[in-house]
Amino acid sequence: MKKTILTGIKPTGRVHLGNYIGAIKPALKQAKNEELDPVYFVADYHGLTKIRDQQQMEELSYGIAATWLALGLDPTKVILYRQSDVSEIFELSWILACFSPKGLMNRAHAYKAIVEKNREGNREEDEGVNMGVFTYPILMASDILMFQTDFVPVGKDQIQHVEIARDIAAAFNFQFGETFTLPDYIVDKNTSVLPGLDGRKMSKSYANTIPLFEEPDKLKKLINRITTDSSDPTEPKDPDTSTVFALYKEFASDAETIEMREKFKEGIGWGEAKKELFHVMDDFLAEPREKYRYYMTHRDELDQILEDGARKARAKAQPLLKDVKSKLGIRR
Ligand code: TRP
Repeated sequence: MKKTILTGIKPTGRVHLGNYIGAIKPALKQAKNEELDPVYFVADYHGLTKIRDQQQMEELSYGIAATWLALGLDPTKVILYRQSDVSEIFELSWILACFSPKGLMNRAHAYKAIVEKNREGNREEDEGVNMGVFTYPILMASDILMFQTDFVPVGKDQIQHVEIARDIAAAFNFQFGETFTLPDYIVDKNTSVLPGLDGRKMSKSYANTIPLFEEPDKLKKLINRITTDSSDPTEPKDPDTSTVFALYKEFASDAETIEMREKFKEGIGWGEAKKELFHVMDDFLAEPREKYRYYMTHRDELDQILEDGARKARAKAQPLLKDVKSKLGIRR
């Protein structure tokens, strides 16, 4: 039987190049693996723990779906849905909450970090913590367990969440017999961490990102802001410590990368190197950017695709939910 691999992205910021290289690109590769049954979704109800603006929620959620499609995800071959369209997930989430020790949530990193900050600031421990934030890992466990997921590709910050899902599943299985598949996380060591404008990891929290579908003139301006040293144009430069080169090699062909490496060693002006970086990026992004724009201006089509996806997802979820409820003595 094919193994299920599940990827969710929550709508809390515009998709940037770091998201693309770190998460989206590897996930799209998995979609082509014949041994895997991939599931992709927009985790909009997870986004609700932070986003409280109607327009922003709408833009960001559609934006994630449009991004997947623009980069070539084929919704007839994989399942792509909006979390909020699959009500079974929320029903299961309550059931799982009843099998989740509160202490397990107390130990979740994201919650713990807020508590620690509050303590340092002499505020009440739970200031600014809503129950959505506190129970976030339970909803995520439900996302994962609802589809009998085998693998969850994640960044390091999400490992604990997958472990929590596993713990909750094991607790249920222990009491009621084999019901949920125990998920494993995958942290891809080959996935590069993309540096941002200032050379640190590209991340929304460092405000150093380049949005994936930025307009060409803005993209050019952002590239010009990338931090470089003050060496002379003719001086040799080390490609392996350069942010410009690190970005270049993600979008250039192998031959172009080898050539650029040589140019760095011989000495290339930063202005010149940035111009070439813009060209390879723009070449790569031009077509997906058009598709993205198309979907963002044809939201009825996006809705149609997401609703079809939700229908497929619900058809998968319903038998499992029925089994779980029956084991619990609820509607046998
Ligand atoms: N918590 C994930 C993140 O912040 C998003 C997410 C929600 C998710 N549900 C998921 C990821 C299920 C994988 C599987 O990135």
